[in-house]
Amino acid sequence: MALPFAVLISGRGSNLLALERATRDGRIDGRIVAVLCDRVDAAGIPAARALGLEASVLEAAQGMDRAAYGAALSAALEAGGARLVVLAGFMRILDAGFVRHWAGRLLNIHPSLLPAYRGLHTHRRVLEAGERIHGCTVHFVVEELDAGPIVIQGRLAVRPGEDEGSLSARVQRLEHIIYPRAVGWMAEGRLTWRDGTAYMDGAPLRPAIVEEEPCV
Ligand code: GRF
Repeated sequence: MALPFAVLISGRGSNLLALERATRDGRIDGRIVAVLCDRVDAAGIPAARALGLEASVLEAAQGMDRAAYGAALSAALEAGGARLVVLAGFMRILDAGFVRHWAGRLLNIHPSLLPAYRGLHTHRRVLEAGERIHGCTVHFVVEELDAGPIVIQGRLAVRPGEDEGSLSARVQRLEHIIYPRAVGWMAEGRLTWRDGTAYMDGAPLRPAIVEEEPCV
């Protein structure tokens, strides 16, 4: 049966659109049952609705703490029937209770080659440091930020003189390849989680790597 999954966004939603495309062309044996967003003005919401997806806004109410927001989010996800939760540019830090509840069923994409460059503004920091190699990572979410087991990484060579805009566009193209692949593996039951450990085809998970195709 196609895996019912939810996608959480805060912004443009380009990864959401890439995932939706992959459900239609058969790369993911799954269906998006809910799109949830914490910002009413996110461009991803109309984009999702235009594709016929159920998209809702869940803003934090005044004075709502992280745990209460996480509980409300979980309730909405359960009500939608999600069995996997995919963070795609969701900018809110999730509380420990939420992460524990969805452990092994919660994926994130981060715009760096983790464990390098956790946190924000990764492209700028990579350029400032003069790195030659950069990319993006899909990982399971654990309580520590940007620290869970790595499923797949997209890797590219930083070009001499490259600016932040160009680098982020190239990394995003890789994101749109690796995220559908990781979710596809979850849907096929190849990527699993047991007692806090991730497995691929029954063996302890080792990160898969996708290299950027050279431009011709
Ligand atoms: C992506 O670059 C992702 O790595 C980061 O947030 C961005 C979301 O972009 N976590 P989009 O909203 O999917 O276009």
